[in-house]
Amino acid sequence: MAKLLIRDLAQVVSPAGEHAPLRGRELGELAVVQHSYVFCEDGQISSVGLMRELPPLDGEIEELDGRGRSAVPGLVDCHTHACFAGDRAGEFDLRASGATYEELHAAGGGIMSTVRATRAAGEVGLREALARHRGWMLAAGTTTFEAKSGYGLDRDTEIAQLRAVRDAGGIPTWLGAHAVPPEFPSADAYLDFALAEVLPEAARLAEAADVFVEQGAYNGDQARRYLEACRDAGLALRLHADQFTEGGGIPLAIELGARSVDHLEATGSEGVRALGQSDVAAVVLPIAALFLGRPMPPARELVDAGATVALATDFNPGSAFCERLPLAMTLACTQMQLAPAQALAACTVNAAHVLDRADWIGRIAPGQTADIVLLDAPDWRHLAYHFAGDLIAAVVKDGQVAWTR
Ligand code: NIG
Ligand code: FE
Repeated sequence: MAKLLIRDLAQVVSPAGEHAPLRGRELGELAVVQHSYVFCEDGQISSVGLMRELPPLDGEIEELDGRGRSAVPGLVDCHTHACFAGDRAGEFDLRASGATYEELHAAGGGIMSTVRATRAAGEVGLREALARHRGWMLAAGTTTFEAKSGYGLDRDTEIAQLRAVRDAGGIPTWLGAHAVPPEFPSADAYLDFALAEVLPEAARLAEAADVFVEQGAYNGDQARRYLEACRDAGLALRLHADQFTEGGGIPLAIELGARSVDHLEATGSEGVRALGQSDVAAVVLPIAALFLGRPMPPARELVDAGATVALATDFNPGSAFCERLPLAMTLACTQMQLAPAQALAACTVNAAHVLDRADWIGRIAPGQTADIVLLDAPDWRHLAYHFAGDLIAAVVKDGQVAWTR
């Protein structure tokens, strides 16, 4: 039995309680144990306690030195587009000179330029790119990640993306309705194809389906048609909604019982109120808002309204070329008025809830999966406070040291 002892920690920090999601006041409640240890056996956390109460342990045990360090749960990135080939450095340059993301998209660049690169990479090239991105995410503390397709928009590449994500240990989401590829005369014609030819296989590989509800992508009627077919095929539902304009994504998500609506930069008070009274999670992506110079989503208002709020990177080559959840936490605290404890819960237990894994992922507590991030700081809040800092000392995944500095 593989055993790992993380000893002499300055503090172990975890979202409090046992249930999920955490909403309202509960979002900011933490369980903190100072001068502590975490003991892991066979990939699970078996005990957490005070160092001075560490019982005698026998057998072969790997040890990690926690002196001067703090431990938080492995971070959970519940919204990424990490499975892509190529880059958009040229587009970044154009945007710096004034071109907008929407203009580049409408001119056939943007998402479609990554579609072209991803189709051309082949399955081996795509897997190599994802492995590289996966390494970046792990080094930034992400131990569980979701990744979407949506850069194939043809049968073979969409399926190759979903298989690659699954084989890399990620949680695949079929973003079959991301953009409308130019080989189809209309969004509806493309959806006819995608639902008939791709959905049956995608539903075997993915856990959820996602759609980009936006002008120039899919309107509410098209999103409804796509999501209803995906729901009937057994997939959970997610939506990219209100990124640039309020397009009816929130009421649609609530009506269809979706897992989440993601983005919400353009969401007004009515949408906030509706989410506060529903069980649809609001996934906020402040890195995308920052990277595109958009307003931040109303995360503080959502928390105050009682909504389930999760925090993710949106890691992708266009709107958010950044895989670092700690940076999303910094932005949550500095731009969206969340407390560090709320930001931590939003990208651990609440993000695990969005991925239907909160029973065993997202906390440091006995019985949970042994996914732990060790910080080179005696106060865990440095994770958000040290802006773009380099303080992750080690990452433990499934009870094994998966990354060290
Ligand atoms: O979540 N807005 C739609 N999709 C992605 C961006 C994808 C891209 O630009 O490649 C997003 O921001
Ligand atoms: Fe996204």
